[in-house]
Amino acid sequence: SDLDTFIAGLPKAELHMHIEGSLEPELMFALAERNGVAIPFASVEEVRAAYSFSNLQDFLDIYYAGAGVLITAQDFHDLAAAYFARAAADNVRHAEIFFDPQTHTDRGIDLATVMEGLLSAIDEAAERHGVTARLILCFLRHLDEDAAFATLEAAEPWLDRITGVGLDSSEVGHPPAKFARVFAAARARGLRIVAHAGEEGPPEYVHEALDLLEIERLDHGNRALEDPALVVRLARSAMTFTVCPLSNLKLCVVDDIADHPLPRMLRQGLRVTINSDDPAYFGGYVNDNFRVLAAAGGIDRDDAVTLARNSFLGSFLPDDVVALHL
Ligand code: HPA
Ligand code: ZN
Repeated sequence: SDLDTFIAGLPKAELHMHIEGSLEPELMFALAERNGVAIPFASVEEVRAAYSFSNLQDFLDIYYAGAGVLITAQDFHDLAAAYFARAAADNVRHAEIFFDPQTHTDRGIDLATVMEGLLSAIDEAAERHGVTARLILCFLRHLDEDAAFATLEAAEPWLDRITGVGLDSSEVGHPPAKFARVFAAARARGLRIVAHAGEEGPPEYVHEALDLLEIERLDHGNRALEDPALVVRLARSAMTFTVCPLSNLKLCVVDDIADHPLPRMLRQGLRVTINSDDPAYFGGYVNDNFRVLAAAGGIDRDDAVTLARNSFLGSFLPDDVVALHL
């Protein structure tokens, strides 16, 4: 449609994308072969067929298993290079990408290997596509806070190339409060702060992310809508929400894309953005996420402009660089 073409042409930033979640089945197969790693699938079609999830944990189990094919710096480079090529094709001009060090260090891959591959791909993307990128280190919330502290310490040599820290993995039962001390330590090192909250977890987790972690962006945040006073607070403070429509659909956070809360979020004055979360697992990159809402009548052309503008306003780029993108 005309709206789809308009959306495709809009320059945008992507603020919520897990690089391990951009591992397409074809690359998973190629890396399994290259590294001699066994995967429990006979074909790319079998992998895709396994991508039917009833909740976040269902997805995470398969996502962590898939990441097991990533062994060398070249693997991490190839993973990120493939994402940047797809992002550039969607007119993403800037990406702030999540990575999960513990998913790799816990299976014996050095953080240096991960960083070497991701950083070389980031440098290449700037030259090849003119796409700028930053890294956000995520702590796995199903692990304990000591493990998060160890990860922050291990990352010390690269903190000049890590913009911020985030919090991901299994939400319910792992509230932000569990990580208050390690986020304070990250803030003390000058890192920017984000967290997944209110995806499956209750509005109380969003309050904790604000008050205890001091987040500067809210990843997902859907369930904040259940608390009207919280919505007012988030609107007044111009908190950026990084919303992921296809993820919400595939993880059964919403039952139907026609019922997705994003249009309501916009009407309530929230600074919403659209993102792909784990594009290889959820059926699409950032433009697909815009398009699915457009097709359901949830967003129009003006909304698309607002959403793209919000993505730069909500980024961690300096104000003068943001201004160049608007
Ligand atoms: N939620 C929590 N953890 C994640 C996600 C998500 O949507 N994607 C990758 N890790
Ligand atoms: Zn996410």
